[in-house]
Amino acid sequence: MQNNTFSTLFVGQNLIKLSAVDSTNNYLKNLASNSEPLAEGTVIMADHQFAGRGQMNNEWIAEAGKNLTFSLLLRPNFLKAIEQFFLNMAVSIALNNVLLKYLPVGLTIKWPNDIYVENKKIGGILIENVIVGSNIKHSIIGIGLNINQSDFKGDLKYKTTSISQILQQDVNLMALLNEICTQIEQLYLKLRAGKYTALKELYVSKLYRLNQVATYAAAADGKMFEGTIEGISNEGLLKIKPLDGKTVEFGFKEVAFI
Ligand code: BTN
Repeated sequence: MQNNTFSTLFVGQNLIKLSAVDSTNNYLKNLASNSEPLAEGTVIMADHQFAGRGQMNNEWIAEAGKNLTFSLLLRPNFLKAIEQFFLNMAVSIALNNVLLKYLPVGLTIKWPNDIYVENKKIGGILIENVIVGSNIKHSIIGIGLNINQSDFKGDLKYKTTSISQILQQDVNLMALLNEICTQIEQLYLKLRAGKYTALKELYVSKLYRLNQVATYAAAADGKMFEGTIEGISNEGLLKIKPLDGKTVEFGFKEVAFI
């Protein structure tokens, strides 16, 4: 544990810095399931993850020492399991708010919770909730942001970007982590205060391709169609209106952005 000077009430006050770990989500999950109670807001950050995990069993690859890879423990017991997407919204908005200061142009949230600059991904979120009964017991919020990495290998070269690639200048990782913890705490407190409608409106207003005609593929039949993102449901389903039909709601694995 390290005492730090983060300007927060609880998010990041207990900060554990590791030089290398398989995945900060795995590490925090193990800590949280131990009998000792772990403080809400605990953050595990790593210089290097050798088995970083992304959504849909993808790997998360980030050059050691150049990026932010960390996991945060929250206990949103006030949220029902069916409301869990509101946590994704709060965290996505928080990251978007912080990055906006550095990257004022082209920043969006690609549903469900990728952070995009124009058509490239700059960050991702992997939230793993432990649910007891119908409520969330605790949440492991894993965040990967590309900060000072200047090149990416293979396919990532075309799909991914970083702050330093865009600005041609490096950013202090700990200062950025402080800003992120501060924003997450603010948005989380809004969520805890029940500001669901405001959070959803803010999240939708930041969506990648909102109100733009674009191509999608439905997993159910593999067919491509043109349509417009209109918003999301309270459960986090994506609402797309096909050009020639009624609005359809898609779950995470049910639609691909083409
Ligand atoms: C995604 O976009 O697919 C989600 C990526 C989440 C990556 C972060 S890095 C820190 C934390 N530890 C992990 O193993 N994954 C998350």
